Amino acid sequence: MKVYMLKDEILLKLKEEPYTYISGSRLSKQLNVTRSAIWKHINELKRDGYNIESSARKGYMLVDTPDNIDAFEISYKLGTKILGSSIKIFNTMDSTNNYAKKLAVEGCSEGTTVIAEEQISGRGRIGRDWSSPSGRGIWMSIVLRPPIEPNSVQIITLAAAAAVTNAIKKVTGISVGIKWPNDIVLEGRKLCGILTEMGSEMDRVNYVVVGIGINIGQEKDDFPENIRDKAVSLKSYAMENRLNLPKIKRNDIIKETLIQLERLYGFLLEGNTRAVTNEWRSASATLGKKVRVLFKNSEYQGVAEDITEEGHLLVYCDDGQLREIVSGEISVRGMLGYI
Ligand code: BTN
Repeated sequence: MKVYMLKDEILLKLKEEPYTYISGSRLSKQLNVTRSAIWKHINELKRDGYNIESSARKGYMLVDTPDNIDAFEISYKLGTKILGSSIKIFNTMDSTNNYAKKLAVEGCSEGTTVIAEEQISGRGRIGRDWSSPSGRGIWMSIVLRPPIEPNSVQIITLAAAAAVTNAIKKVTGISVGIKWPNDIVLEGRKLCGILTEMGSEMDRVNYVVVGIGINIGQEKDDFPENIRDKAVSLKSYAMENRLNLPKIKRNDIIKETLIQLERLYGFLLEGNTRAVTNEWRSASATLGKKVRVLFKNSEYQGVAEDITEEGHLLVYCDDGQLREIVSGEISVRGMLGYI
């Protein structure tokens, strides 16, 4: 059973009845503490970023939750059994993937989730950097210990991409698509990237770290120049399209991603990879599109037909051959040409 501190207990009471005044005397009776203890902890909650209105006559009312990443906000009614079992939040760190890998090697529990407000050496796929400015995105890594072979790990990445896509839709109402294998795109530009790394033996995975980076609050000029035309955040998208989005709560997106990923991970543990590939398919921004497949020394063009149950991409190439692409770079023809 979870043991709460008094501050959290007060917050739970306020959350049960948001936008409603609860008197100090009711709180002090229910929690069996003095009214001045309630007052002291309410002030602490305000310092943590909670917007709580206080009235001498009516008591306290929760109006808004903080924008900073907060373990309580993520765990509140999370309801997962594995993901988020332990949530570690940092103001700044080199890379959440590096730290999650260290914890995984040291034997942390499955589902441990590391989140940072800022990464100073955020890493992307293929040795690229991942720009991770403070407070502007979700930079998080989740440790999993799937009972699968190392060459099946790609399916976890597909599950993560589907989970983030579902979470963004659910929390913000914005429909995003997945560019194979695991870039999440919005009108052809990259909103989220996933870097999956593992520690394994020949035939056994010890751990998988799923690193998820979602651009939330950057304005166009906040992106490094070399990716400015290829990257997008929820904020820059809303500004360009003059959308009046309600304030985006990173904690809500994190929480929903954990819920969605746990659900999809459950399918994988049951051996039901088809349920995962089907969700990936329905969110795909690649299937049915003209694509270019870029290898080191060669390039193919064709139409992306489908993915296999291992998550490989099947491309019906212009030379008439059906090719199975295991991993690598593809560009998809869309509104902005091939990206
Ligand atoms: C990509 O190149 O598309 C993958 C980007 C992955 C970025 C995330 S942010 C959290 C985690 N920590 C890292 O250093 N990288 C991943």
